[in-house]
Amino acid sequence: MEKSTTTQRERPVLDSSFRHIAFIMDGNGRWAKRQGKPREFGHKAGAETFRRICLYCSEVGFEAVTVYAFSTENWKRPKHEVAAIMALLDTFLDELKRDYKKYNNRIRFIGDLTVLTPSLQEKIAYVETLNSHCRTVVNVALNYGGRAEIAHACNELIREGKKPGEVTEDDISRTVWTSGCPDPDMIVRTGGDLRISNFLLWQAAYAELYFIDTLWPDLTPDDVDDCIREFYSRKRRYGGL
Ligand code: FPP
Repeated sequence: MEKSTTTQRERPVLDSSFRHIAFIMDGNGRWAKRQGKPREFGHKAGAETFRRICLYCSEVGFEAVTVYAFSTENWKRPKHEVAAIMALLDTFLDELKRDYKKYNNRIRFIGDLTVLTPSLQEKIAYVETLNSHCRTVVNVALNYGGRAEIAHACNELIREGKKPGEVTEDDISRTVWTSGCPDPDMIVRTGGDLRISNFLLWQAAYAELYFIDTLWPDLTPDDVDDCIREFYSRKRRYGGL
């Protein structure tokens, strides 16, 4: 029998200092362009990568994974591209409804979902009820903007009757859309750009930022392992020494 030349990489082990990883899934368009294909082709591949990476993150033991699927600014893209991303989402929701047991995680959508079609909103509300026993939560940021989220939290607090001087940081943390999730310990942006692009602005206060050149559709579980190693190579001081 032929001897395998591939060496098994040692998988990094998580501890309680690394509970939440977030991804800015950038580079789908360039990935497609490099192959002479339309941008939609890249989003389709990106959706596959999203499934694979989420599965791997729950396998590794993350408590939370947050992905930036569609920003409040992404509506400015050509109509056919927006429609293609929404169609991918629709397919994903149908698949989740059918095969949710395959996914060892709970899905939650964060963002202003009121602008989505009633059909998408219904499907989202349903899939969010599935897998409630799973440890890992996957937050899919959709029609999401960090500033919009902070404004939403402020409005919630006004509705609660908070008076000037009463609002605390904890109040904002419990009214942002990620409420109940620990803050992200690391935010990874694929695709080489060095920006946060209105993602998790409140929650990113102490997150480690990691920018990698790999385009999102090419991201593999081995790359996630590299992110974990990178995280543990950093010293988090939270403003102390
Ligand atoms: C950014 O890459 C990516 C997006 C705006 C869309 C991300 C969407 C997916 C990965 C599909 C999500 C699907 C589900 C089911 C949640 P870009 O298009 O800006 O890439 P570029 O920088 O190369 O142009």
